[in-house]
Amino acid sequence: MNLILMGLPGAGKGTQAEKINEKYNIPHISTGDMFRAAIKEGTDLGKKAKEYMDQGALVPDEVTTGIVRERLMKDDCKDGFLLDGFPRTIAQAESLEKILSELNETIDFVLHVDVPAENLVERLSGRRICPTCGTAYHVKFNPPKEEGICDKDGSALIQRDDDKPETVKNRLAVNLEQMQPLLDFYENKGYLARVNGDQDIEIVFQEVQEILDNKA
Ligand code: AP5
Ligand code: ZN
Repeated sequence: MNLILMGLPGAGKGTQAEKINEKYNIPHISTGDMFRAAIKEGTDLGKKAKEYMDQGALVPDEVTTGIVRERLMKDDCKDGFLLDGFPRTIAQAESLEKILSELNETIDFVLHVDVPAENLVERLSGRRICPTCGTAYHVKFNPPKEEGICDKDGSALIQRDDDKPETVKNRLAVNLEQMQPLLDFYENKGYLARVNGDQDIEIVFQEVQEILDNKA
């Protein structure tokens, strides 16, 4: 299955992607995670991406599309992929169409994890992530068993740099502006499926499975 997860910052894309990956064994491709890995490694890509991410702005389309293209060409994507946080602009969506036609692939579903914008500041400010395995927790909605410690590997949880209040505001504004045209783009192609993301994590995942299992 070839899937795209869309949603505003903090809607729960990464959280659902992890569950989809576990159950359906589809590689999870998150442009945000790829940029964060590049920043950690100190590569040129990382340095470039950081300038934009620190402002809550989008990384330029050609940079983002380039890394996605490279990733989709890898063998493990032959039996499906799950794009998280890409595309985020119409230009990126158009580039994706070209990449997929080269690969003779199409999209099965674009899952829109829909959460009212006013809930997202709380989700983002309470998020804590594991620097080792990338799992996202939430101090209130999805706490680890032991405060501040990853359940899976015992690492001390940290806050993402772009979850600081000034950056969050800009990220939400940028994404609110970009998202509607993309939703329309995929609606017109008949790929769009809405999931109510304003519910418990497990209930959101049930909705996701209903959509995916009807297809499978
Ligand atoms: P990216 O890493 O993609 O960030 P984002 O889109 O802002 O999304 P998040 O990762 O913040 O949120 P999420 O929806 O995954 O939520 P999560 O599951 O963690 O991108 C970061 C930056 O990289 C961008 O700002 C941009 O600069 C750059 N970038 C990335 N892609 C790009 C592109 N295509 N083009 C250009 N630039 C790009 O959940 C959030 C919190 O809520 C967690 O604490 C979680 O535990 C909790 N939670 C999750 N689900 C629920 C629920 N159902 N109920 C209650 N709490 C929940
Ligand atoms: Zn961990």
